[in-house]
Amino acid sequence: MLTVTAVAKLRESIKLWKQQGLRTGFVPTMGNLHAGHLALVDRARQLADKVVVSIFVNPTQFGPNEDFEKYPRTLEQDTERLIQHEVDLLFTPSVETMYGDGEQNMMVHVPDHLNNMLCGTSRPGHFDGVATVVTKLFNQVQADVAVFGEKDYQQLMVIRHLVRDLAFPIEIVGHPTMREPDGLAMSSRNNYLTTEERGRAPQLQQALQQLAQRIQFEPDAADTVIKELKQSLTQSGFDVEYLDLRQQSDLGLPQPGDKLLIALIAARLGQTRLIDNHIFELE
Ligand code: PAF
Repeated sequence: MLTVTAVAKLRESIKLWKQQGLRTGFVPTMGNLHAGHLALVDRARQLADKVVVSIFVNPTQFGPNEDFEKYPRTLEQDTERLIQHEVDLLFTPSVETMYGDGEQNMMVHVPDHLNNMLCGTSRPGHFDGVATVVTKLFNQVQADVAVFGEKDYQQLMVIRHLVRDLAFPIEIVGHPTMREPDGLAMSSRNNYLTTEERGRAPQLQQALQQLAQRIQFEPDAADTVIKELKQSLTQSGFDVEYLDLRQQSDLGLPQPGDKLLIALIAARLGQTRLIDNHIFELE
């Protein structure tokens, strides 16, 4: 595996592969790689001849009081894992490479209908930061296909719209969330949980499944069920930011007769903000 920090070096490899008629798959990450990321890498490998992974903890998607400074940076361990998964190129740009001196940078702005809900409400500017860095990475890597996890479902939706609206010549593939044996969605932020909190964390996924089951034959009960589940999570010590039911297609509010739904949650457990979702179909 080749590790490069400079865009010019990255482009040399990409150019060569394109001349050879090879297809490039791309997995953008912020590092601290776990089995969830590695599943995205394996998926990219199935879809392309060459696989590029980027590791960049992107400052513009963190709010002023968020965990940018303490976000785990584990490059050595990440590199070993990527070698084991036969990644061809690891791109690890610096903040300077991505944002220059940081002054007056052009940013991509995510429209309100994608931003003013769910995580966008509590993390102002977050999705603009994601859309901006993903735009830069797509322009740098020039891949044919990119793979993103469905755990960050709103992010995946933003990226699908970004690619469509700004006409990027890249295919976006969503990959199902990887889970620990007890159901907790894999996330780098799980490392922040204390042992006691880690024991309670799977309750998020359980609540999402209960919501899906309980409205299966009674969709009109959704508001009541959501209220009950929020209360129960609050009693268990979660600070629930949102627990919501949406359409899978565009995260719009479900309309009568909609069958393809997604339940989404964000909650704090101690100092840790966790998100998860459950994709399901009404009978
Ligand atoms: O999902 C992530 O890890 C990040 O939001 C991404 C897509 C790599 C952009 O920084």
